[in-house]
Amino acid sequence: MSSQEIIIKEGVLKGAILHSLWLRERLSGDEFVDPNNLQRLYEPSLLDENLLIDSFSIKDNFLSIKFSDGVEGNISVDELYQEINSIDAIPKKKIWEKNDSLQIFDNNKIFENSESLIQMLESFYKYGYVIIENTQAVENEVLNFAEKIGPVRTTNWGKLFNVVSKPNPNDLAYTALELKSHSDNPYRKPVPGIQLLHCIANESIGGDSSLVDGFSVAEFLRNNNKEFYQILTNTSVNFKFTDVDVILENKSKLIELDDDGEFKQISFSGRLDYVPLLNQEKLKTFYRARKCMYELCNSDQFKIKFRLSKGMIAMFDNLRTLHGRTKFDPNTGFRHLQGCYIDHDSTEGKLRRLLK
Ligand SMILES: [Fe+2]
Repeated sequence: MSSQEIIIKEGVLKGAILHSLWLRERLSGDEFVDPNNLQRLYEPSLLDENLLIDSFSIKDNFLSIKFSDGVEGNISVDELYQEINSIDAIPKKKIWEKNDSLQIFDNNKIFENSESLIQMLESFYKYGYVIIENTQAVENEVLNFAEKIGPVRTTNWGKLFNVVSKPNPNDLAYTALELKSHSDNPYRKPVPGIQLLHCIANESIGGDSSLVDGFSVAEFLRNNNKEFYQILTNTSVNFKFTDVDVILENKSKLIELDDDGEFKQISFSGRLDYVPLLNQEKLKTFYRARKCMYELCNSDQFKIKFRLSKGMIAMFDNLRTLHGRTKFDPNTGFRHLQGCYIDHDSTEGKLRRLLK
């Protein structure tokens, strides 16, 4: 008997209701997809929209189906299960506060074999950052390191930026001032996904680093102040950067949620954000909420403090983990960091490929 859907009665897919076209476009095998890239060899929009399932069976962990257009094929039950249950190879995020131990990896070991690289990348995705020790403390080393993971994102600053105290800076990062917890470049489209900061020298008094799990702060607000959480997740703020040859602007919520209401992105940079002219009540609430978020992001409850020493790299998820530094005195010693950005797609993609 033909049907446009099947209901699985047993096994891991028990209770799943599977539509005929949904199944038809998931058929595996050389007849349906290119074996090299697994892309479909046909246009699924041209399939019969009234396609039916004539018969099916499950054997050896494969679902075999005969369709009304005469096509027969198989689909891996494991792959169906993973897709239906949104099971991803990228580890689930683990929310942390300052008491969690620092995620430190040795540059001499992480590229020794794929297991070590997997371990480092999995920690990165779980915690939103890793610290790498024992890289060469020389200029451009941050690019050598980054390119082993994914292509470097070139911006109007070039492939990398130098964090040194200099006269007439075009960004506060290039002063000796304290930098409170912030995310980088929320004014870009898209916002850079991953930042790497490499320490070539840190001989000044001051200039200690800090990281904060922005998702942990967002979770705290969700649990403890519904009014603030509501306005921070619903107000689009304009972030703006002005330089001699460009003016960059991008709008986002300070706490951006995904379709499931889970944390997607934190944008927090108090020197660059411009809230729209809302009514008095809303603005009042927004300013109180932003102040609260600022205080949480800079509190000892959430901040991990450490010193980025010569040869260390801090690699962090710029859409989740905020970073900052204490002020330093450039007259007491030289401080030079180099930074660059890479994207999540190449890094996630590398991890998925390593795990396959
Ligand atoms: Fe920064």
